[in-house]
Amino acid sequence: MVGTTLAGFWHNCAMQSSLEIIVLAAGQGKRMGSDLPKVLQPLAGRPLLSHVLTTARALSPDKIHVVIGHGAEHVRSQFVEDQDLQWVTQSEQLGTGHAVSCAMPAVDTASRVLVLYGDTPMVARQDLETLLASPGDQLALLSARLPEPARYGRIVRDARGAVTGIIEYADADPAQRAIDEVNTGILAAPAAMLTRGLSCLSSDNAANEYYLTDMVSWAVSEGFDVAGILCAGTEAVLGANDRRELAALERAYQRSQADALMQKGVHLMDPARLDIRGTIDTGKDVYIDANVMLQGQVRLGDGCHIGFGAVVIDSTLGPGTEVLPYSVVEGVVTDGECAVGPFARLRPGTRLGRQTRIGNFVETKKAVLGDGSKASHLSYLGDSTIGQRVNIGAGTITCNYDGVNKHQTVIEDDVFVGSDSQLVAPVTVGEGATIGAGSTITRNAPAHQLTISRGRQRSIDTWSKPKKK
Ligand code: UD1
Ligand code: CA
Repeated sequence: MVGTTLAGFWHNCAMQSSLEIIVLAAGQGKRMGSDLPKVLQPLAGRPLLSHVLTTARALSPDKIHVVIGHGAEHVRSQFVEDQDLQWVTQSEQLGTGHAVSCAMPAVDTASRVLVLYGDTPMVARQDLETLLASPGDQLALLSARLPEPARYGRIVRDARGAVTGIIEYADADPAQRAIDEVNTGILAAPAAMLTRGLSCLSSDNAANEYYLTDMVSWAVSEGFDVAGILCAGTEAVLGANDRRELAALERAYQRSQADALMQKGVHLMDPARLDIRGTIDTGKDVYIDANVMLQGQVRLGDGCHIGFGAVVIDSTLGPGTEVLPYSVVEGVVTDGECAVGPFARLRPGTRLGRQTRIGNFVETKKAVLGDGSKASHLSYLGDSTIGQRVNIGAGTITCNYDGVNKHQTVIEDDVFVGSDSQLVAPVTVGEGATIGAGSTITRNAPAHQLTISRGRQRSIDTWSKPKKK
């Protein structure tokens, strides 16, 4: 840009048409004390960086550049399916300003650039839209006011309130540290302005790094307009540099998800004791007790009731499903009113019809139960198709695995399986059959008959208890 006139510069800015986002994700995150690169540390079950990318995409940018360095291959490997990302390598982490310069050669000089930090995942799309609503030829930065500004960079303003610079905590004097308006790290600027400013940065500071934040005092000194946009909440700034901050971030994120659910009319017993690691879709009058964890894609239909301490993963629960305390439900579909638990474990491929009941210490896997069927106590039902109105007695086991292959058990409508029976698959129990308690069923049981396979009971009247010698 050397030799470019100011007029030409402004012309370039006015011409800008595209938005390009640069996400900084090259840092090691020393303070985490972890082998995992910081931007891969999980927030609500997925990498910090993936949250930032979701927000970035919501702005429909023309390009997203991700600057990686520390653990670069590891980071990239987590996003192989994200074809829309342009990866940039920063081989030495010389600071946030240096990281942005690494990306600039791939950025269209006529575009507007938004810089996001990979370790600051809670910034809201609305805050970024407000930032981007500022005139495109300005340097616009996003700030937040924190009661405890901790070690964030401080926004320095003059007597008229205009931003004059950002001072990093390590470089700040006590008066500057007293400032409670902090830098989120997020800024927007014309690409041409960034390229020029970045080439002027020095690393003469406490960290010996090229700070992106020094762009601000540079822009002020060059006579560019700098807009400091204060966002309403404090979430935009919440980052994670160490484990304590990561835990605090997790709580803040969970709380915001809980608030959103309550806004939709979900009854949360305690919004501080709910963990959502995924996407939740809810109907009306859903009740969620304390200490519940919802993971992956979960859909809770009208009137669903999730009991204390339950875990629900990748499941679609129909209206009126009741999950009782301490049950783990994964990969399950329920058709309507039914009850699960307490202490039940439903594994992937379980489908429950209406008015079904799965009781305590029952495990199911790839098991379909028709309407009105019940397995109330202590059972394992795997690779099973169970008809309607079937009663599975306590302790019934489908022996679905012969040590090599899995086999199917079919139990037709209106079957009664007596307690403590083993159904050795492949096997079919015909409609209306009864299996006597304690049977080991190795061949098909005919419809409407009693099938029983156990030793006949006898009592030995000459027997007496052994005596101690
Ligand atoms: C930075 C800001 C600070 C702000 C805070 C908000 C600077 C100099 N300071 O401080 O004003 O209050 O964020 O969270 O920008 N990164 C790289 N390459 C590098 C260095 C960092 O890609 O060479 C990435 C990191 O992976 C991270 C982000 O940039 O995602 C921010 O770096 P970090 O070291 O965490 O900056 P802070 O000290 O938090
Ligand atoms: Ca940080």
